[in-house]
Amino acid sequence: MGYGFRILCYFAYFLCQFVVSHFQLSACVIIEQLNKARRSSGSQSARSNGCDLFQGTWVYDDTYPIYNSSICPFIEQQFDCQGNGRPDKLYLNYRWKPTACELPRWDYIEEGNTTYKDMDRLVAFKKGLTTWSKWVDSNINASATKVFFQGISPTHYDGKEWNQSNSTCRGQEQPLNGTLYPGGPPPAVAVVKEVLGNMSSPVTLLDITTLSQLRKDGHPSVYGSGGEKGNDCSHWCLAGVPDTWNQLLYAILVPSNGVHKNL
Ligand SMILES: *[C@@H]1O[C@H](CO)[C@@H](O)[C@H](O)[C@H]1NC(C)=O
Ligand SMILES: *[C@@H]1O[C@H](CO)[C@@H](O)[C@H](O)[C@H]1NC(C)=O
Ligand SMILES: *[C@@H]1O[C@H](CO)[C@@H](O)[C@H](O)[C@H]1NC(C)=O
Ligand SMILES: *[C@@H]1O[C@H](CO)[C@@H](O)[C@H](O)[C@H]1NC(C)=O
Ligand SMILES: *[C@@H]1O[C@H](CO)[C@@H](O)[C@H](O)[C@H]1NC(C)=O
Ligand SMILES: *[C@@H]1O[C@H](CO)[C@@H](O)[C@H](O)[C@H]1NC(C)=O
Ligand SMILES: *[C@@H]1O[C@H](CO)[C@@H](O)[C@H](O)[C@H]1NC(C)=O
Repeated sequence: MGYGFRILCYFAYFLCQFVVSHFQLSACVIIEQLNKARRSSGSQSARSNGCDLFQGTWVYDDTYPIYNSSICPFIEQQFDCQGNGRPDKLYLNYRWKPTACELPRWDYIEEGNTTYKDMDRLVAFKKGLTTWSKWVDSNINASATKVFFQGISPTHYDGKEWNQSNSTCRGQEQPLNGTLYPGGPPPAVAVVKEVLGNMSSPVTLLDITTLSQLRKDGHPSVYGSGGEKGNDCSHWCLAGVPDTWNQLLYAILVPSNGVHKNL
């Protein structure tokens, strides 16, 4: 397999990034929708049963906004305009309406004909990931495309996980020593392993979870965009841990390039 193969890690990356909150979950639903549209139209344009999703208008909808960015811990502070003091609110109430069809709402999760108001995050993650795995299994030619799945990126909000009750990533200046994270893997890891294990196509898991768990010192904490008001223990400082993820991906793509067994 030369360098010409396509790398299909983006959707998976978005999936795991987006599945953590209402907002992020719905992004995952929409991405799946676009994939469906592509399959049925056989083209790259995002048409859904003849409906151009990008052609339409903004309509006022008093059931919007569909989530409160000020209480959603996953919205980066720089995007939380209300929280940052924006005085007007009308802009929160506009819904995108494609001319020839309806977009699914972002705050629910639909499965078949059943609509759930909310769903356990892990259950939702499993469903989303299973949908992705089926899509890969039925659409990807394994001899032409190599599929990677980037594993779960951990957070450090609970010091009990590393034997320091009452602390978070804030003030942490060193990684944990050793190779094991005392708190064990986050529950989403088991979901990833189960779903990937059931796939017929080979998927390479970029298993970055444990190595990242050891880096309780690697998060922005109060040095993210939230400043002193925030304590971001889920994203990562750069330069930092994600650079290592990339190095690992590179090492897997180009195996002759610098990976030496330590015997
Ligand atoms: C969003 O949450 C904040 C903080 O709890 C609250 O002050 C605000 O009124 C809420 N906004 C809406 C539109 O519910
Ligand atoms: C969903 O509803 C449509 C129309 O009522 C019906 O034709 C279809 O069989 C239903 N699908 C499932 C999975 O229940
Ligand atoms: C899969 O890809 C290989 C290598 O490019 C090609 O020879 C084969 O015909 C493809 N199979 C299908 C079903 O497209
Ligand atoms: C956690 O702290 C307790 C009490 O100091 C100690 O006995 C235990 O070995 C520690 N566990 C780890 C994983 O460091
Ligand atoms: C953690 O904080 C709680 C409440 O402030 C306190 O009662 C407890 O003793 C603290 N535990 C440790 C290990 O510092
Ligand atoms: C980890 O190892 C470093 C260097 O050997 C040492 O300075 C540090 O105290 C150790 N940390 C813990 C929690 O044992
Ligand atoms: C994986 O396969 C096992 C055995 O067939 C099945 O019990 C399980 O439900 C499957 N899990 C998922 C997530 O599809």
